[in-house]
Amino acid sequence: MSFPKDFKWGASSSSAQIEGAYDVDGKGLTTWDYEKKKINPGTCSFKYASDFYHHYKEDIALMAEMGFKMFRMSISWARIFPEGEGEVNEKGIQFYKDVFKECHKHGIEPLVTIYHFDLPAALEEKYNGWHSRKTGEAYVNYCKVLFENFKDDVHYWLTNNEYNVMIYYGAIDMMTGKANDLNALYNTGHIQLVYMAKAISLCHELCPDAKIGPAPNLCACYPATANPKDTIAAMNMEDLRNNMWVDPLVFGEYPKSINQYFKYNNIVLDIQDGDMETMKNCHPDFIGFNCYGDETIEHCDFYEMDWDSLVGADNRDMSYLVKLTEKPGVGKAISNPFFEVGEDGHKFDPYCIRVTARKLSDRYRLPVIITENGYGRPDTLEEDGSVHDRYRIEHLRRMIEEMNTGIEEGALLFGYCPWSAVDLVSTREGISKRYGFIYVDRDEDDEKAKTAEMKRYRKDSFYWYKNVIASNGEKLD
Ligand code: BG6
Repeated sequence: MSFPKDFKWGASSSSAQIEGAYDVDGKGLTTWDYEKKKINPGTCSFKYASDFYHHYKEDIALMAEMGFKMFRMSISWARIFPEGEGEVNEKGIQFYKDVFKECHKHGIEPLVTIYHFDLPAALEEKYNGWHSRKTGEAYVNYCKVLFENFKDDVHYWLTNNEYNVMIYYGAIDMMTGKANDLNALYNTGHIQLVYMAKAISLCHELCPDAKIGPAPNLCACYPATANPKDTIAAMNMEDLRNNMWVDPLVFGEYPKSINQYFKYNNIVLDIQDGDMETMKNCHPDFIGFNCYGDETIEHCDFYEMDWDSLVGADNRDMSYLVKLTEKPGVGKAISNPFFEVGEDGHKFDPYCIRVTARKLSDRYRLPVIITENGYGRPDTLEEDGSVHDRYRIEHLRRMIEEMNTGIEEGALLFGYCPWSAVDLVSTREGISKRYGFIYVDRDEDDEKAKTAEMKRYRKDSFYWYKNVIASNGEKLD
């Protein structure tokens, strides 16, 4: 195994999905806190989540027991600015100071996402969220407060989580956007890129010792066959799905191949004077990326998108995303027949990280870190407090093996933070879909969760990951 000596082993989380305490200590509401935003009937809300707010010491101690070098977490914007802008909530600042202190006490480096989907509701109401540059201005001001307050505590920052997925999931008003207005959706992406670039430059100015990068969701893009037309379709997809979300921050320009898709879909980015220069001059220190799988693309001739079949704003199942990946002007997504199959029958692509990390390293010549990757599914808590999640171990083991080969082949990977450290609330499937190394004892019932003890249990994957980290990736069985 050839993981670098100081490789950052850890895991990830996000404020809305883990913290709970949605209305405690002055926190404002976010677009995720409304009852009506409950995604799938029968699943819990984000209000109480895993109650990390009151369990952070215990959780961080468990992460330390696993040997974590890094913990990816996010700050809830509405805990710092209950209204998204204006008055700072000092109790919010104090909470994160305490969390960072706890991490450092255990030798864990916090990797801090500035904004992970949970927009302050006030900004959605006042400005229609990321449709307005006013939200961007509030964001940069929020970043300034973070950089000033946490200069000594945080050495690794991430800007916005999956700003590209927010486009694909645009129908969901809990994130931002309108279902059938691709032009508006892509413009929210452009606005985020411009203001993320401002945040990156501001970070360099205010925290010269810190490093900062973006955290898009990127995937391997494979051609369906050896037909050259499929290769071109896959290249188009890679430009639209991956490169257009990083190129502007590194090169100050969008890839040209997206133009045919934009033209076909009547998308015109509102690029204002100075936007591209702002992006070109921001110089991220590394690229963080969430990586769960692939897009396998075959050539297809242009066709009309049937928006009506994409159903309503609350439909966030995967088929919605898949349909959006059938992109006129790009190609058509098909399912990949070469996936590996786990013991429990789930299909997955362990090559996705290796392929994507190599491509990113070649294209940008910047260090890269995996900010998410993992396998969510229900787990069973046995009477003796054990959780036998062999399927998760098997999934992560294959990812780590391929990641290791990727490093040998030249990928500039410096860390791995799979999703997630502690069980948390899935964006679509409640708490029943679990990702953590640490089991949280609660179910979908919010009323019960309000007062539940939410006891923590070590899963089998906890002990396995502990050995992986202790052996720096040598012991994977
Ligand atoms: C990533 C998000 O896309 O996927 C996380 O950044 C999310 O917030 C994760 O939880 C897993 O997806 P899901 O839908 O199971 O929550």
